[in-house]
Amino acid sequence: MKPAEILSEVAEQAAACTLCELHHSRKQAVPGEGPADAEIVFIGEGPGFHENEQGRPFVGAAGKFLEELLASIALTREEVFITNVVKCRPPGNRDPQIEELQSCNGYLERQIQAINPRVIVTLGRFSLARFLPNAKISQVHGKAVRVRGRLVIPMYHPAAALHQPSLRSVVEADFAQLPGLMSAADVQETMLPSLPENQNPEQLSLF
Ligand code: URA
Repeated sequence: MKPAEILSEVAEQAAACTLCELHHSRKQAVPGEGPADAEIVFIGEGPGFHENEQGRPFVGAAGKFLEELLASIALTREEVFITNVVKCRPPGNRDPQIEELQSCNGYLERQIQAINPRVIVTLGRFSLARFLPNAKISQVHGKAVRVRGRLVIPMYHPAAALHQPSLRSVVEADFAQLPGLMSAADVQETMLPSLPENQNPEQLSLF
């Protein structure tokens, strides 16, 4: 199957998914969107009110800020793939629960395998925890780490920066580093240790 076909299949399956409780309250699933050959995948937490209404990721206030951050590094949302760790809205925007994250993980895994991006940017702590389970976002944000051959770059969630104005400049500075980290990835690809997913972050070499 071609990557675009896999992404369509994942979207169809997420739309009909009943693996966790979130299907009861969702209006529609929000599988994610972007080119099947995107070089970067951004992974947020889960759909909010507007995303649940429209079936598209990051279309509310956090999405507007994400688009501004992308523009600051000369990218548009059409050039990147944007998705979430859970594809259905947690009621009242509560945190996704462990069973929900586990139920939805297969969809995200298939998206990542299909797109095969060089870089994954995690937005917020739930997305970070999927790749680096014990890492603290305050310690690792803006630093790149290689996980299963891919560059993972943890960032604060754009919504966190909207709620906590002091984080705004931190998020902007982390985004400003992204192009440099991506080109450094080319150079350092073979020199960096390859780390298995879910490895204890104490053993991770951040650079
Ligand atoms: N916040 C997220 O984490 N994801 C979205 O799609 C929208 C807001």
